[in-house]
Amino acid sequence: MTALVSTARSKGRDRGAAVRVEGVSKRFRLYQERNQTLKAAMMRGGRATYEDFWALRDVSFEIPTGGVFGLIGQNGSGKSTLLKCMAKILTPDEGRITVNGKISALLELGAGFHQELSGRENVYLNGSILGLSRKEIDRKFDEIVDFAGLDQFIDTPVKNYSSGMYVRLGFSVAINVDPDVLLVDEVLAVGDEAFQRKCDEKFADLRDAGKTIIVVSHSLSTVRTMCDEAAWLEHGVVKEIGVPGLLIEKYVENTHVERVAAEGGGSRWGTGQARVEKVELLDEHGDPVLRVRAGAPATLRFHYETQGPIVKPVFGFGIHRIDGTHATGVNSRETIVPDRIEGTGHVDFAMAALPLVQGSYDVTVAIVDDSNLHTFDYRTKALRFDVGSGRPREAEGVFAIDGRWSFES
Ligand SMILES: Nc1ncnc2c1ncn2[C@@H]1O[C@H](COP(=O)(O)OP(=O)(O)OP(=O)(O)O)[C@@H](O)[C@H]1O
Ligand SMILES: [Mg+2]
Repeated sequence: MTALVSTARSKGRDRGAAVRVEGVSKRFRLYQERNQTLKAAMMRGGRATYEDFWALRDVSFEIPTGGVFGLIGQNGSGKSTLLKCMAKILTPDEGRITVNGKISALLELGAGFHQELSGRENVYLNGSILGLSRKEIDRKFDEIVDFAGLDQFIDTPVKNYSSGMYVRLGFSVAINVDPDVLLVDEVLAVGDEAFQRKCDEKFADLRDAGKTIIVVSHSLSTVRTMCDEAAWLEHGVVKEIGVPGLLIEKYVENTHVERVAAEGGGSRWGTGQARVEKVELLDEHGDPVLRVRAGAPATLRFHYETQGPIVKPVFGFGIHRIDGTHATGVNSRETIVPDRIEGTGHVDFAMAALPLVQGSYDVTVAIVDDSNLHTFDYRTKALRFDVGSGRPREAEGVFAIDGRWSFES
């Protein structure tokens, strides 16, 4: 939920940096009291046992004043913890953080909102937490409500708000206090298209005014297009800092193996009379790979095995981006349907230029009969592969549109 935080203008020594993180470590204690016998507890003298867990370890870097800075990293890598330390919701166990100017934050959904109070009352409550006087809030109130697009609902208790409405109100308050440094954790994806565009405009305004925005996002394309610079966190340590394009490329490459091992399991159903035992992605040399470049030649190979003869099988596959977006799906019905197959073999789908943009994708595969009455095998997440940057070098969305630019003046 939306946490709004502000600290007074800090007397930052360093004019160049908006935020300076110096040797910051943050520890959480994980208590292990459950499933302990009374005797064991008494033996310990009533003290709880715990394990230290370092969510951040000796993190140092500077975020320059002006522009948009991104934080990327896998779940649990410490991104939110770092933002909370910057916002002073958490105190580091070691090191320190200096923020130059007034900081405002939009953190997890809903924190900072009082459930029983109306949107109006929450604007006043949050505004005052952010250091605005009642008069100042009066002055900004209409703009805040207008930006959030919640006129109709402003007197409704926020407990009845949708998550999108929460974010809109939280974001609207957070930016309308005129922060020098704005922290945004992931929440933007919750708003609808129109609201996202308004946020983008607001970010552009803040940026033009020389303010600093720090965003955490799992959307690598958002980070690539929005940010001037980004840091990659891994297990509480800064792995690398750099321009988003290159950083993301390394990040995607580096995190593949670990991810597949961690997630793996898709689902599977069907009669089993024919099965796709393995899906491979082949590069232009015909070698199996887990990563290809956008726009490079690639082939999907489906190895099958049947129990007895299968008449007129149809092979199909779908590709989903790992956030679940269905990128594409095709089948072989209108092209090749063999009269029958038996035993083992493989079916290839060759692409002269892989039309997907940089990112990670899952392949779903199916074998059905020609009438579509029988599903022999249906396997989701049969293969996960990564697409690295290639041609076009900069592309957004899901697929790389093929076309030719021309110019006439
Ligand atoms: N209050 C807490 N008590 C104990 N452990 C915590 C607490 N807050 C965070 N952690 C742990 O610290 C680690 C970092 O968490 P954090 O929320 O910063 O990760 P994140 O990078 O934001 O992940 P995500 O992408 O899932 O949002 C995780 O292992 C998390 O379980
Ligand atoms: Mg987080």
